[in-house]
Amino acid sequence: MTDDGILVAQTGDIPDGEAIKIDAALTGTVDDIAIFHDDGQFFALDDTCSHEKASLSDGYIEDGVIECPLHAGKFCLKDGTVLSMPATEDVACHRLIVAGTDIRVVPNPARLA
Ligand code: FES
Repeated sequence: MTDDGILVAQTGDIPDGEAIKIDAALTGTVDDIAIFHDDGQFFALDDTCSHEKASLSDGYIEDGVIECPLHAGKFCLKDGTVLSMPATEDVACHRLIVAGTDIRVVPNPARLA
């Protein structure tokens, strides 16, 4: 890995309002990473909900918030802050670099495997 991050996707791979899951084996992190596209902006969080084992990349994106598909806990896309019950803990966020059509992840050092 370099400061330029890890190339994980192209912007066209993720339609607006959707997300993809990047395998932890590619990012060297303890959890898979979900990359979300919300209204022209891209965000990256740990994929696993902090409540139970649900994949946030399967959740519902609206106005900068991801809603968990299992029990509807909500998290801020920008920084992973928990916003609603039943989730009570934040999820980790990761830095993204979008250059042209390339999407690169710079894994959160606290979440490296
Ligand atoms: Fe996400 Fe319960 S697993 S809110």
